[in-house]
Amino acid sequence: MSDSCKLSGACLIAQSGGPTPVINASLYGMIKQANEYPEVTAVYGAMHGVTGILRGELLDMRQITPKDMELLPSTPSSALGSCRYKIPEPEYDDTDFKRILEIFKKHNIRYFFYNGGNDSMDTCNKISRFMRNSGYECRVIGVPKTIDNDIYGTDHCPGYGSAAKYVATTMMELYRDTIVYDYPQLLIVEIMGRNAGWLTGASALASYYGKGPDLIYLPEVPFDVEDFIRTVERRIKLGHSVIAAVSEGVRDKDGVFISEYGATDSPIRDTFGNIQLGGASSTLKQIVGRRLKVKQRAVEFSTMQRCCATRASLTDRNEAEMVGREAVKTALSGKSDCLIGLKRLPGETYHIETELIPLREAANFEKKVPLEWIGADGRSVTKDFIDYVAPLIAGEAPVAYENSLPVFADLSYLKCVE
Ligand code: F6P
Repeated sequence: MSDSCKLSGACLIAQSGGPTPVINASLYGMIKQANEYPEVTAVYGAMHGVTGILRGELLDMRQITPKDMELLPSTPSSALGSCRYKIPEPEYDDTDFKRILEIFKKHNIRYFFYNGGNDSMDTCNKISRFMRNSGYECRVIGVPKTIDNDIYGTDHCPGYGSAAKYVATTMMELYRDTIVYDYPQLLIVEIMGRNAGWLTGASALASYYGKGPDLIYLPEVPFDVEDFIRTVERRIKLGHSVIAAVSEGVRDKDGVFISEYGATDSPIRDTFGNIQLGGASSTLKQIVGRRLKVKQRAVEFSTMQRCCATRASLTDRNEAEMVGREAVKTALSGKSDCLIGLKRLPGETYHIETELIPLREAANFEKKVPLEWIGADGRSVTKDFIDYVAPLIAGEAPVAYENSLPVFADLSYLKCVE
């Protein structure tokens, strides 16, 4: 790289949106990589994403002890804290942006890395645009993460493989428990993924490689409650237990979330307007319970599926670190305004490389499960789906243990810089 591309200043890392089991592997990758460049004068971490930047809460990442540094990749859930804050369009209200610029100037921040999902890429894109328009040189890079796997332009998102492995593994275990009695039972398992069924679809790995769900319902296909009851009834009458994997985002043909059926209070929303989901499995259990005489349980994987470090995929963790390192290399090579995407290379064996995706594209689109990967019955996924997800769960990511329990990094001793 020519010296003309060299930009001396601090780098700032922030984490945003729902956590993942491997998000801190990206943080680790970014810190390690940034420390390799003499022109990076400091490495800061913002507490709670962009809201921490607005409050001026920046931590000095170079104060992390070597022990905690090595524990970071296997530590689940945003070590810096997270946020769900929708920053306004700078053209309508630039108050936040002026404050961010003030903080960036104060700490001479010239590299900004935002590790998040769709909504966070929107924030990242707006900050990038504002910095450019105000003539302040700062390279802004999006680092992908989400268990929902719905960021546009990338083959998959770090965090998804580990959550998929948790879902498939736990489904296999739940299967064993669901068949223990000499009478049939219904088990309804609810899996995260607001608008995209990638994670719910991963439950099919359990059935493909062993025993798992009989029915799989993704948000991409309208959910028909009557059809669900009929399907369950048919199987129960034959004496078979039924395991149904349902996405938290399943909705009927009118777009009403099943979790909202019978709700009396208005839903809680975040600043992006997203309804706080959860409860589809228990709602369905109640509906079915009124119609069929069958023992049933509703299980919600809820936040367990996104903090499951002890079941993380090694491939996923390695890729999370890779995108973190690549983000820093990209910025230091003079590029900006892009997301680090993962591209799957053609061939029999799984190979991946990184590619740059313009931030404005990643910010404006959502990647759903292709309809041709969903079974014609609307209750299953195809072999193409299995082939897609199987390599992403490969390998068991190691975790350090003390007292026979996992030990995680604790950064609570870090103080905000003045
Ligand atoms: O980040 C994605 C996600 O895990 C979704 O699958 C889920 O709907 C949402 O986050 C839950 O967010 P929160 O933790 O803000 O309730």
